[in-house]
Amino acid sequence: MSAPRGQFSSNVGFLMAAAGSAVGLGNIWGFPTKAAGNGGAAFVVVYLVLAFLLAYPALMAELTIGRHARSNMVQALRGVAIGPFSRLFANITGFGGIIVASLILSFYSIVAGWMFAYLVEPFAAISGATGAAEWLTGSSVSRNLLFTGMFSIMTMVIIASGVEKGIERWSTLLMPALIILLLLLIVYVLTQPGAMTGLEVYLMPDFSLLSPELLISAMGQAFFSLSLGVGTMLIYGSYLSKQESLPRLGALVTIIDVGIAFTAGLLILPAMYVAQEAGTQIFSEGGELIAGPGLILQVLPALFDTMGTAGLFVAIAFFALMTIASLTSSISMLEVPVAFSIENLGLRRRGATLLVGLVIFAISTLIIFNFDALFGLVISISTEYGQPLLGVALCVFAGWIWRRDQLLTELKKGHENIETTLFWRVWPWYVRIVCPLLILAAFAQSVLVG
Ligand code: PHE
Repeated sequence: MSAPRGQFSSNVGFLMAAAGSAVGLGNIWGFPTKAAGNGGAAFVVVYLVLAFLLAYPALMAELTIGRHARSNMVQALRGVAIGPFSRLFANITGFGGIIVASLILSFYSIVAGWMFAYLVEPFAAISGATGAAEWLTGSSVSRNLLFTGMFSIMTMVIIASGVEKGIERWSTLLMPALIILLLLLIVYVLTQPGAMTGLEVYLMPDFSLLSPELLISAMGQAFFSLSLGVGTMLIYGSYLSKQESLPRLGALVTIIDVGIAFTAGLLILPAMYVAQEAGTQIFSEGGELIAGPGLILQVLPALFDTMGTAGLFVAIAFFALMTIASLTSSISMLEVPVAFSIENLGLRRRGATLLVGLVIFAISTLIIFNFDALFGLVISISTEYGQPLLGVALCVFAGWIWRRDQLLTELKKGHENIETTLFWRVWPWYVRIVCPLLILAAFAQSVLVG
């Protein structure tokens, strides 16, 4: 084993880092885009239910195991597993987490690169460099390579400098600014023509739109948004002190994450209809949504355009915040394979970061060159299948494999009178039976019906 493990300096530090990991492209790019393409409010309702019914309990499994084991996911799961079969399962789940975290980071860096390019674009526009501005907002391979590369380097620099100095400081800066800007933009968008149609689509559910795909998509989105299954939350839990209440911190992270996603939807869905009114083609003649993953990059610039010159500054502020929000998430993904390389392979932090970072950038490059074939596929494999299935495995570890008395003892630490809480009465059997069954049932019905 190498150097002593880092630890967050306070529960606020943990909360900021965990919420920083959770809040990112998943909330502001992923959630509204999926809601817009999957039945609007019906998706929103299913998402909210699943976030609290499935994702929060699974988050608790990760935090509890992580704080107990004080190590990365592979090591932690091996630690609670007794007997050859459990150990095999621990290895599969642990390495599965590392692989899925790396896959997520590989596409995440591409989308974050888009945010970064859109942050630079107003500067090009102001200085009259129209060609550059067009290149920045286009979808060329060169633009993607350059900005994905720059984003990857930023992620690596922060992770190379370690937990306390890197992760915590960055995460504490951003959240309030992001929320304030979102709220201001919502107030603005709601005064624009067309906004009310969007609000209605977002808030008035039409349950005839429910489908197996919608369920799987919403479940994947909930696991993605809370950074579950891949060991991120497990590692952050491992840096957390024993004086804090896990159920409470977990609930706070969930509420912040879901709250920001919901708020982002209040901006993006109305903005789609405002953009359509203002002449940007968001829907086809037949009312079908045209845009794919680039939806918010069409909708938001169109909205900012309606603000005149002020729109340039708003664009800069928005995409700067998005870039930072992406960074506080991407660092939490990179920390997963890096912590494993340090603790199990004996690498130094810098060397591990460089090595892993380059491998992941190579995967991003592969996706960029084969965008149509790979981008959606990697997202679907890693977030819709990988994360929920790993979530099942982690619930099985917490509920069945780990010694019950140790699990309960860990939960009690830092939470006085936990025995009187609803959480204590429900969660230990819920994570054992209900959570895995519900997730598996969702898959089963998608295979059988879909
Ligand atoms: N939760 C992050 C987001 O919503 C993405 C993420 C997934 C981060 C998995 C870490 C691990 O943007």
